[in-house]
Amino acid sequence: MLNGKNVLLCVTGSIAAYKSSFIIRLLITSGASVKVIMTESAKGFITPLTLGTLSKNPVLTDFIKDEDAGIWNNHVDLGIWADLMLIAPATANTIAKMAKGEADSFLLATYLSAKCPVFVAPAMDRDMYLHGSTKDNLDLLSKRGDKIIESQFGELASGLIGEGRLSEPEEIIDSIVNELRSGKPLLGKRIMVTAGPTFEPIDPVRFIGNRSSGKMGFALAEAAYQAGAEVTLITGPTNQQAGDYIRRIDVETAEDMYQSCITQFQDMQAVIMSAAIADYRPANVSDQKIKKSEGPSSIELARTKDVLHYMGENKMGQILVGFAMETENGIEHAKNKLKKKNLDFIVYNSINEEGAGFQHDTNRVTIIGKDNKMTNFELKSKKEVAEDIINEILNYL
Ligand code: CTP
Repeated sequence: MLNGKNVLLCVTGSIAAYKSSFIIRLLITSGASVKVIMTESAKGFITPLTLGTLSKNPVLTDFIKDEDAGIWNNHVDLGIWADLMLIAPATANTIAKMAKGEADSFLLATYLSAKCPVFVAPAMDRDMYLHGSTKDNLDLLSKRGDKIIESQFGELASGLIGEGRLSEPEEIIDSIVNELRSGKPLLGKRIMVTAGPTFEPIDPVRFIGNRSSGKMGFALAEAAYQAGAEVTLITGPTNQQAGDYIRRIDVETAEDMYQSCITQFQDMQAVIMSAAIADYRPANVSDQKIKKSEGPSSIELARTKDVLHYMGENKMGQILVGFAMETENGIEHAKNKLKKKNLDFIVYNSINEEGAGFQHDTNRVTIIGKDNKMTNFELKSKKEVAEDIINEILNYL
């Protein structure tokens, strides 16, 4: 959910400011870009050098960047840049000023300029947190649309035990992710995606594989997650990376893929089979490396199990989506596969098309439904193709 997002982290003067370094780490590992604003008083608790180094961006505090040169920090641009703003820790003082609409610091001016969702994680002593004015201010911010990440009960810097402790960094990130996911169309749905090639061993050194990069499958897993789904990604060997919010299962052979898929598929509402699973494997795998000899050699092949065919015969309400990559008579072959494997729809792409197919970052597909309805899409990034496919699944669900 945070992958590719611009996050503005605002740190105010609380003992809990040290936790902002962990928050930055978590944001960065989730794929976000982070810029940090600190108030003057926050600098007494953690240094700009620490937060600037972790966020890989200069830390901002003042309106003025270079007084002699007349250069200022533009809070309006920063507000536009941000996809979300997180104020953590937020002191009672900053919360009160936010509620009143004051703009006497760079942080507050940026808050007033921001059009993105704003998350506020309060941190203060128990009695300040429980004070009526703090409660009223937080209620007001919440009514205006800011999301409050409630403080936790626990030991406080004053020695008191009670509410007011800044939520732990992991809980703050979880609250943000849950909030961003709420209202997404695939929330509560489980989707399985397969990706990449399979490798069928010949001997301990060699295998039969194919040119699938896994890019399409990984883009589909990400698009399904962005639409709110709980995603299981079963992938053959690739060098693609998936976020840790995606449940990833690595497999190597068509048999591994079959075993993994049939174990998972009963629990799924939709399955997208974009893996290029081998149709044949060497009938016998040599224990030892095969040595060359004079003259030609041959490898006897045996059929692998057709995963999609099995699922088509055994499905219980799951939406089943197949892929057909063809070099000739594509539409006809794709329609046959759709029917033979009992799919809900099939995504056809021709590898003869410029910029489409294995290894490319783009693809040009035609979606063919059970009723033979065909939708042609133009050449697009695999990310956009993935979104089109997820939108089609939404029509079925
Ligand atoms: N597939 C599968 N199990 C296999 C092989 C393929 O589930 N053992 C799936 C692929 O993930 C894809 C679709 O089936 O969604 C492709 O159909 P398939 O008829 O196998 O196409 P090809 O592998 O290209 O084979 P053909 O030579 O028949 O075109």
